[in-house]
Amino acid sequence: MQIKSLAEYEETYKFSVDHPEEFWAGIAENFLWKKKWDKVLSWNFTEPKIKWFEGAKLNITENCLDRHLEKNGDKPAIIWESNDPEKPSVTLTYKILHEQVCRFANVLKKNGVKKGDRICIYMPMVPELAIAVLACARIGAVHSVIFGGFSAKSIADRINDSACKLVITADGSFRGNKQIQLKEVIDDALIGCPTVEKVIVLTHTRTPVSMLKGRDLWYEDEIKLVDTVCPAEEMDAEDMLFILYTSGSTGKPKGVVHTVGGYMVYAGYTFSNAFNYQPGEVFFCTADIGWITGHSYIVYGPLSQGATTLIFEGIPTYPTPSRFWEIVEKHKVNILYTAPTAIRSLMSFGTEPLNGIDMSSLRVLGSVGEPINEEAWHWFDEEVGHKKCPIVDTWWQTETGGLMISPIAFVTPLKPACATLPLPGVQPLLVDEQGKEIEGNGVNGNLCIKFPWPGMLRTTYGDHERCKQTYFSTYPELYFTGDGCMRDENGYYKITGRVDDVINVSGHRIGTAEVENAINMHAGVVESAVVGFPHEVKGQGIYAFVIYPKIHDEPELTKKDILQTVTRVIGAIAKPDKILFVSGLPKTRSGKIMRRILRKIAEGETTSLGDTSTLLDPAVVDEIIAAAQQL
Ligand code: WT7
Repeated sequence: MQIKSLAEYEETYKFSVDHPEEFWAGIAENFLWKKKWDKVLSWNFTEPKIKWFEGAKLNITENCLDRHLEKNGDKPAIIWESNDPEKPSVTLTYKILHEQVCRFANVLKKNGVKKGDRICIYMPMVPELAIAVLACARIGAVHSVIFGGFSAKSIADRINDSACKLVITADGSFRGNKQIQLKEVIDDALIGCPTVEKVIVLTHTRTPVSMLKGRDLWYEDEIKLVDTVCPAEEMDAEDMLFILYTSGSTGKPKGVVHTVGGYMVYAGYTFSNAFNYQPGEVFFCTADIGWITGHSYIVYGPLSQGATTLIFEGIPTYPTPSRFWEIVEKHKVNILYTAPTAIRSLMSFGTEPLNGIDMSSLRVLGSVGEPINEEAWHWFDEEVGHKKCPIVDTWWQTETGGLMISPIAFVTPLKPACATLPLPGVQPLLVDEQGKEIEGNGVNGNLCIKFPWPGMLRTTYGDHERCKQTYFSTYPELYFTGDGCMRDENGYYKITGRVDDVINVSGHRIGTAEVENAINMHAGVVESAVVGFPHEVKGQGIYAFVIYPKIHDEPELTKKDILQTVTRVIGAIAKPDKILFVSGLPKTRSGKIMRRILRKIAEGETTSLGDTSTLLDPAVVDEIIAAAQQL
């Protein structure tokens, strides 16, 4: 499946556009199917309705586990590195991982889980998280992993949206010198979740937890009660594999749905190709399994290719900013896939933390989550890769399932801070505001995709209309990404950032409407408007303009109260970096907040605010500018 030269890429790309079905059928041949497909693809982008490998039967865990046993059973599948560098790391061979997945799958079955049931997973970055994910897939249950930083309310919303039957969690998690009491958060969440029947709790931090009789069970007890044989459920290629919630410009987060066959082919193919993974290599993706990056490039992509995937529990700066580099040295990491925000944060410590660490094992570097700035790109290239490792700047989304626009390591000529070219099978185009295609090179537009690829989302859980409205209605017959993009003179794609009301904070997608709703829940707040602003480390920070007429004591304390409310409603990741109290917001006569103006003010711009003639009360702008300059 691996492309070896630029000429081969060009030829393959052309073939994938001219004959998409033949192309993807050829790729799919590299996977294990219980029964092959009757039809490669049927689709339309109006409903939308997308089916890949219709009629095929498979189980993704047989591709990720069983098929490697004979030749590579004793090869490491997962290497786990603890938050605490003093704790020994753990290696699970394919044989052991297979056994543990089967065992835990039997635990789920024993507790009444059936094919199609939704399971919520809220866990630390430990091997049992990957085991839980795979155990669901083994028996055809649909996993919905929730990142450990979300609040009880966010969890409850997600659990209720998809009516989860069972929750898998742990007592707590370690993140640097902090501990998160996961079980306590789950207990709070479950007060409002009538569908949840059982909670399985892994022992990890061993903090005291309450265990409710009849509902809560210990992971360690349960796995003793079952055996290690668990045949893989036969799944239809278009059966649901997982739901992953993600924020958009309006409303509550939506449950992006991925299906078994297409997702597997796409995650496996893109992993093998873009990173040029070679047998025996150690792949270290620093994301959390709670995000799509972790699903596709810690769990499914690497394991489907028989790779060794490294799971790291902690954070890049704990106990020191040498941690990533020490992990690379300790485990002889060959491919390091991380985020611009991590690079910028580590860059701020200079090169001292890299001194004396042997990183000669590194062969390929990767970046994901947000546009990488040139300074960070060069630092990564020079200080980490010693100018010997290609950097694959991979553009993609929760909805795309896998990499879309990305260099192929050792194949695509690189350009700093540029996602370069579409991978085979990906057909991007740029459109103007009216949806008219912008042709030629050296142009800017809104990034759309005009043809399906196997890893694309199929729907948003429980609300297909929302999927249609969000992704397929802005521009008829096109999938709209929400990103702005430039195509340079050489036809290279460079993502410029979101063009909708979504903020990208440290590579995490946060909807402005969601943050506003959370702020508005705070007593005393009348109204608020949230925009992004450039932030040195996070890429974008959150700037909140808040109308709060009767501040009951010091404004600084009130700001902290508001942050607390946001933490309660969404989670700490959505806390505004700046709060500005204002007496009014710039609105049009029809009552629409002019965010364009607020964005400029948040960026520190005070003069060229553009046309303000449609404002109901232009004076409010001067007042906000004056207040912002004080902040
Ligand atoms: C949004 C998707 C896909 C994994 C992590 C984020 C931005 C992602 C890049 C990149 C520029 C990027 C886009 C995209 N983004 N990768 N290499 N260059 N921007 O997943 O939470 O679904 O967010 O992240 O704006 O739309 P996500």
